[in-house]
Amino acid sequence: MCGIIGYVGGKKAAPVLLKGLQRLEYRGYDSAGIAVVDGDTIRAVKTRGEVKVLCDKVEKNEPDGIIGIGHTRWATHGAPSDVNSHPHLSADGRFCVVHNGIIENFAELKEDLISHGLPFKSETDSEVIAQLIQYLYNGDMISTLCKVMDRLSGSYAAGILCADSPSTLYAIRKDNPLVIGLGQNENFIASDFAAALEHTHNFVQLNDYEIAQMTARAVTFFDRNGNKVEKTPYRVDWDISLAEKGGYPHFMLKEIYEQPKALHDTLSPRIKGDNIVLDKIEFSPANVNSINRINIVGCGSAYHAGIVGKHFIEKYCRINVSCELASEYIYSNPITDNRTLTIVISQSGETADSLAALRLAKKLGSHTIAIVNVLNSAIAREADDVLYTYAGPEIAVATTKGYTTQVAALFLVGLKIAKVKHIISDARYNELLKELALLPDKVSEILSDTDKIKRYAENYADRKCVFFIGRGTDYAASLEGALKLKEISYIHAEAYAAGELKHGTISLIEEGTITVALVTQQDLYAKMLSNIKAVQSRKGTVLALSSQSNVKVGEQSDGLITIPDCDDDVTPVLTAVILQLFAYYIASKRGCDIDKPRHLAKSVTVE
Ligand code: G6P
Repeated sequence: MCGIIGYVGGKKAAPVLLKGLQRLEYRGYDSAGIAVVDGDTIRAVKTRGEVKVLCDKVEKNEPDGIIGIGHTRWATHGAPSDVNSHPHLSADGRFCVVHNGIIENFAELKEDLISHGLPFKSETDSEVIAQLIQYLYNGDMISTLCKVMDRLSGSYAAGILCADSPSTLYAIRKDNPLVIGLGQNENFIASDFAAALEHTHNFVQLNDYEIAQMTARAVTFFDRNGNKVEKTPYRVDWDISLAEKGGYPHFMLKEIYEQPKALHDTLSPRIKGDNIVLDKIEFSPANVNSINRINIVGCGSAYHAGIVGKHFIEKYCRINVSCELASEYIYSNPITDNRTLTIVISQSGETADSLAALRLAKKLGSHTIAIVNVLNSAIAREADDVLYTYAGPEIAVATTKGYTTQVAALFLVGLKIAKVKHIISDARYNELLKELALLPDKVSEILSDTDKIKRYAENYADRKCVFFIGRGTDYAASLEGALKLKEISYIHAEAYAAGELKHGTISLIEEGTITVALVTQQDLYAKMLSNIKAVQSRKGTVLALSSQSNVKVGEQSDGLITIPDCDDDVTPVLTAVILQLFAYYIASKRGCDIDKPRHLAKSVTVE
């Protein structure tokens, strides 16, 4: 879950690397470092702390040179410290490595290398790569790297410098993201496009067990046997301004405000009149009728999006849907076969657990669809079909537009299947299509006046515990609301199915406890009102979220935030936006590091 960047070209490398690292900080921010080929030596500057700490250190003693590598770390092996920070140099200082991933056999490799007289400085697994390169080096980097890859097990995306070839940058990859950016007389490696997007829009994907050899003017690719490989570049049209704060105090707030566009871009190209066209995914009657089960798999918010999708798909498609945490699915001996449709949801498309789940589902014969935001990411490439969410780059660790666009994509899939199966009436289908198309405007309406949400949030910012309750779809939405609050404000929050409260959790309600009650499902209003009463009877404070026309809820709660009137089935998108803002304003009042919450990384590429 670290971020890596590499540069070779005509500019001074250090500033390019530092800027790239700032864009990659969402991947990890407990330490950072760069290394530059300075004359015929490699000079590394690294530190515990965020990239800004590194910038200060570099400013005092900037390494000179036009080729280098950089790293921002999320510690797995060895605590965050100067010495455990990347880049790591080999014992002779001739090779230097930045690494994202985990070398699973590092302990035995390390023992072996130490027995051959190579001293280690850090506790990291990554240092073995640098030492192994030194140990196996035969004067030719490509054949050396082939041998290195043969010895490594685990996952890696690595950028490598070699003092013997001071104008060449090398990269290797297995199971961790790495793109090669092709510029004008300059080339890049990066964990994701965002880090190189201000320099180029042309990229090449490095596949597993491939090597990239890069100078300022040429990039050559090799397979694991050292044979040359031809690759076709692709263009990423994301605008670099999307990866900048653009006047907002935090990326998270900016991304919340980008949701009308993200939803519009995800929904509108797929709604063609009264037809839903899901890119190249073929939902023929034969395909659809052969599905007897749908498994939705994801992690974190992607999993929560899946739970919303499950409600919708089961309601309209009458197919059994199970939604699984990817990390659990892999070890659950899942009931998956060729009549199961597996939908893997991932904003980054690189989450290791979700990727492992996808591979298992394919192995078990299931047809797989990826709902992914990042173009050409591993999950997008490996799934049988892909439905992109067009949210644009998401930088804040806590997902916002990533989540709502995933929910929107699942609505499209559900409606499409229901239509092909002929089990939804034309009238209801058209109504829902219309409602989906209106979602961007309704989100804009929420965003045009957030004062009330802010006021409530700031009033409650000192609380220790917040419950979120709801029934059905509202319960699914409350899971994401609680996660958002936990992630960025560090307040303990728990989502509970409202009807389940009385079976245990209600014992925790006392004076001062806040319960956010989601009351958007008309057929459940009465039941929710009883649940609200039960909380208030224990002196708990209830903040309700309900539609504009549902006046009763307001009268019976301690506070009310209204959502624009809309069809009950699509409200999770609207409640999500309110709950994102609620969490944001609480975290802001508490002075939290909103875009980079403690201990978290955006893209979790370890299992
Ligand atoms: C991390 C992030 C979450 C995200 C989850 C899944 O834990 O902090 O916000 O929901 O990974 O990420 P993905 O990229 O697969 O959607």
